[in-house]
Amino acid sequence: SRSVLGVMDMPKKPEMGIPEMYIRPQEPTIRSNETTLPTIPVFDFKASLHENAIDDAELDKLFTACKDWGFFQVVNHGVSSQLLEKLKLEIEKFFKLPIEEKKKYQIRPGDVQGYGTVIRCKDQKLDWGDRFYMVINPLERRKPHLLPELPASLRDTLESYFRELRKLGMELLGLLGRAISMEIKEVMEISDDGMQSVRLTYYPPCPKPERVVGLSPHSDASGIPILHQVNGVEGLEIKKGGVWIPVTFLPDAFVVNVGDIMEILSNGAYTSIEHRAAVNKEKERISIAMFFNPKFEAEIGPVKSFINSENPPLFKSMLMEDYFKDFFSRNLNGKSHLEKMR
Ligand code: SIN
Ligand code: FE2
Repeated sequence: SRSVLGVMDMPKKPEMGIPEMYIRPQEPTIRSNETTLPTIPVFDFKASLHENAIDDAELDKLFTACKDWGFFQVVNHGVSSQLLEKLKLEIEKFFKLPIEEKKKYQIRPGDVQGYGTVIRCKDQKLDWGDRFYMVINPLERRKPHLLPELPASLRDTLESYFRELRKLGMELLGLLGRAISMEIKEVMEISDDGMQSVRLTYYPPCPKPERVVGLSPHSDASGIPILHQVNGVEGLEIKKGGVWIPVTFLPDAFVVNVGDIMEILSNGAYTSIEHRAAVNKEKERISIAMFFNPKFEAEIGPVKSFINSENPPLFKSMLMEDYFKDFFSRNLNGKSHLEKMR
């Protein structure tokens, strides 16, 4: 495999026309044309209060959100606005670095971590976004030339963000488990050697946003991802009832979704939903997605205590590491990875 850096670094700048490899066939997808779009459910995390502040009625709402929508937004998540402001400045600065600087982090042949996009076949269509993906936990899986080599102020800010999000991620997993009486948190073991990764994406403005895709349709090969729209610009779309619905956010909310692994562990009690990112004509968009997963050595399959004669397993089991390798060996393609597990 080889990799390319991204839109920002293509030889011709976007204003000179869109290169063929970014143009998508006009797809027959239907965008919702309702005037008032439904918004994804809101979950108030009440970070400032005691854990017991989340009562059964709220757990029930969380359950319904994860079952019917596969997506919810978290308010009062407890991550400070100062940290988020710092994060925004640092990430913006990073993507504006000269290309020679960013090249140091380019994805290396045979790898999936780093800056850029892996090219697997000759006519592969590219997404209209520059991304930087890396594994951050367990520590021994970190690539020495990525996080440790980032500019110090960006690295420190990211480390603070990782710590905060890890706390939030663990508590959310606890709640999602509680809502279906299943030890999801224990299964995920994210406190110790659980696998966590992060993806930073910069979506430049595009003169013809309807002809390109910021991030191809997919479901996430992950337990739960937590998405933050760093500069407040929206673009996430989810597929519900066969229709693409743009997701609108409350200010400062994080978006959490059910990943494929969560659907598998919960034996389909929770639903992993296909989604994509659209781009904007005038505005640049920046996002950071953090992915919480079981450890590489874990066997992922429906949680045993949940399976009985009334509730037979709907999915096969597989090693996390193998699932992950398989996901990264192919291009994003709807829910195809999850379907292979049935
Ligand atoms: C984004 O909205 O930028 C990313 C969405 C995703 O991670 O699927
Ligand atoms: Fe995703």
